[in-house]
Amino acid sequence: MSKEIKTIGVLTSGGDAPGMNAAIRAVVRTALARGLKVKGILKGYNGLINDEVIDMDKKSVSDIIHKGGTILYTARCLEFITEEGQAKALETCKKHGIDGVVVIGGDGSFRGARDLVKIGVNAIGIPGTIDLDIACTEYTIGFDTAVNTAMEAIDKIRDTSTSHERCSIIEVMGRNAGYIALWCGIANGAEDILLPERYDNDEQTLINHIIEGRKRGKKHHLIINAEGIGHSTGMARRIEAATGIETRATILGYMQRGGAPTCKDRMFASVMGSYAVDLLCAGKSNRVVAYKEGKFVDYDVNEALEMKKDINEYEFNVSSLLSK
Ligand code: ADP
Ligand code: F6P
Repeated sequence: MSKEIKTIGVLTSGGDAPGMNAAIRAVVRTALARGLKVKGILKGYNGLINDEVIDMDKKSVSDIIHKGGTILYTARCLEFITEEGQAKALETCKKHGIDGVVVIGGDGSFRGARDLVKIGVNAIGIPGTIDLDIACTEYTIGFDTAVNTAMEAIDKIRDTSTSHERCSIIEVMGRNAGYIALWCGIANGAEDILLPERYDNDEQTLINHIIEGRKRGKKHHLIINAEGIGHSTGMARRIEAATGIETRATILGYMQRGGAPTCKDRMFASVMGSYAVDLLCAGKSNRVVAYKEGKFVDYDVNEALEMKKDINEYEFNVSSLLSK
């Protein structure tokens, strides 16, 4: 059991995700309601290294639940991976009396949380990433907004693709994971979905599929390509040369990370934020908040980082069945 917590810090780390602000709000307001002091740590782990820490009260999180991005800013901070960086972070925690930190981010950020625990600071992780690539949880904050943003953009590309009878390759984010591509592929009725977890680089099969579709009277051919595969522009050039069908590539990019969070992202972020603070208040540390089988639960960070997850085979098969 850790010593009683009096002051907590909250930071956002890694790529930002819509709903992070709702999580920050929940952390701050739950902590205040439990009688704790709250510090906002700016720019991810950089804030701990460079002593960029602000006091937070109820008002500091007013009017942010509906906003994308993160009011605390975020960063990828390589210095925190070093012992020297962690020593500076410990000094900052001591200076501000921070005895527990809530880290909102992805797997990399949770490795940082584990290091905080190693140097004597309690830490709890909240899954915040548009990629949905955290194995211990069925939900990550930001995914729902990102797939809805991408889906709406792809609908628009579909319109013009049909008018011009073109083939369109749309590249979506997800780092090495194909969840955004799979969800948009199904939701947008794409003819092909290329996932890093499944794609075997067999471009000829893809080309044959496009030609067969055209022979059956298809007016467009939408290919959702995951960032983990990439090379959409080159792929478009090769497909056009092989099929004679005009082919265009669109890389959706950072628009997928911005915008007002959906209801689902706000709701999950709010519950997860409160849950994280309650874990700290209960003397827990080195835990990750997760959503599993309809419940909010928590896992040991080491166990969480060991877990693996994969694309659901049935969902992947449905996508090709429905777009025939
Ligand atoms: P995400 O959290 O979205 O997976 P990153 O992998 O970029 O994003 O990690 C975010 C930050 O977490 C890194 O920039 C670094 O500050 C910290 N971090 C990542 N890996 C480690 C590690 N092994 N030890 C300590 N900190 C880490
Ligand atoms: O993790 C979220 C994410 O948007 C990934 O989908 C993408 O690979 C990466 O971040 C991009 O990171 P950066 O903002 O550093 O370019």
